[in-house]
Amino acid sequence: MKVYLDNASTTSVSKEVLDAMLPYFKSEFGNPSSLHEAGIRNRKVINQSRSKIAELLNCKKGEIYFTSCGTESTNWALKGLAFGNNTKGEIITTKIEHHATTNTCLFLQNLGYIINYVSVDKQGFIDLDELRSLVNDNTLVVSVIMANNEIGTIQNIKEISKICEEASTYLHVDAVQAACHTSLDLEELNVDLVSISGHKFHGPKGIGILYIKNGTHLTPLIHGGQQELKMRAGTENVAYTVGITKAMEIGMKNLGSYEERLNIYAKMFLKRLDEAKIDYILNGPEIGENRLPGNLNLSFKGIDGSVITYLLNKKGIYVSTGSACDSESIEPSHIVQEIGVPSEYIDATIRFSIGNETTFEELNYVIDNLIEIVKNEI
Ligand SMILES: Cc1ncc(COP(=O)(O)O)c(C=O)c1O
Repeated sequence: MKVYLDNASTTSVSKEVLDAMLPYFKSEFGNPSSLHEAGIRNRKVINQSRSKIAELLNCKKGEIYFTSCGTESTNWALKGLAFGNNTKGEIITTKIEHHATTNTCLFLQNLGYIINYVSVDKQGFIDLDELRSLVNDNTLVVSVIMANNEIGTIQNIKEISKICEEASTYLHVDAVQAACHTSLDLEELNVDLVSISGHKFHGPKGIGILYIKNGTHLTPLIHGGQQELKMRAGTENVAYTVGITKAMEIGMKNLGSYEERLNIYAKMFLKRLDEAKIDYILNGPEIGENRLPGNLNLSFKGIDGSVITYLLNKKGIYVSTGSACDSESIEPSHIVQEIGVPSEYIDATIRFSIGNETTFEELNYVIDNLIEIVKNEI
C-alpha cells in the first residue's frame, strides 16, 4: 500500500482541475495579448478567472494578481512595498515564518531595513502584546503566516489587523497553507496583501496569487509587457490560471465537510496512539481549535525522526520531518525549536498531513506501522 501523508508539502492535481486545464495546452493556446480571436478568448478566460477568485475571496477583481507561486507572491508583497517606499525603515514578522518570508526579510535587512521578530507561545500563537509594543511610526509592514506549515497554528488575523490599522502599517498575510483549508474572507479579515499558492489545494504547481488591496502602493518586480493589470509582466499561464481557479472553487465549496472529516481522522489517529501507550507530544494547538485540519505534528521520545521516516517510507508511507524545504537539514526546524519542544522529543518530530484523498483504511495502515516502528525503536 502507498499512503501519501505529506499534503502540506503539496497535493495532487484533481481530475476536475486537470480536465479544466487541458484545452489550454493545445486547442486554446492563444496568447491573451494577441488581438485575434484566439488571443481575445484567452484574455476573457483570464478576466473570468480573476473575477471568480475575487468572488471566492470576497474582494474586488482588480485586487487579484496571478503569480508563479506562493514564494513569488511573498517576495513581491514585501520587496514591492520596500522598493516603493522611502520613508519607513522597519518590518515586523514572526519567528515561525516559512523561508519565503524569512529569507525575503533577510534580503531586505541587507538593504538596510530593520527586521523585528515577534515571539510565539508554546502552541505557536503570536504574542499580540509584543506586536503592539513593536509597531511604531517607522513600521512599513507586518508579515504574518496565517496557518503554520509545520504545526498548523491558525493566527487571529482579525486582531492582528486591528493592531496594524491603529498603527497605520500594512499587513501582509502568508495564506499559502490557509487557503481552502480554513475560511478566508478578505473583507472580514481586513488585510492589505495576501499570498496564496495553487498546489496546496489540488491546483497545479507553478501558480500563485497575490491579493493587493486597492490603495496599497506596491512596485512591480517583473518588468516587461502590460500583463497582470500592468503590474507583473510575462505572458500569462492561461492553463494554470484556469487550474487554480477551478481548484479554489472546489476547495471552498467543500471546506466545511473537509474540515469536519479531517478533524475526525486526526482525533482517531491520536486516540489510537494513546491506546497503544506511545509517548508523544502533539505540537501546536489541539485538534479543531485554530489548527489546520489534517495537520498532525508529533514528536516522539528518545528516537531519531529520520529513522521513523525511513522505516515508514519502506512501508510506502510518505511523511515529512520539518517542512519539505528543510528536508536536507538535520537540525530540527526553526519552528519546532521556537515553540520549545523538549530536547528528548525534538529529534523525532514528524509532520503527518492528512489530505482530501486520504482514506480511513490508509490511516489505519499508517498508525499500525507507526506504532510498531516506535515500539521497536525505543
Ligand atoms: C506557509 C508557506 N508559505 C509559502 C510557501 C511557498 O509556496 P510555493 O511552494 O508556492 O512557493 C509554502 C510552501 O510550502 C508554505 O507552506
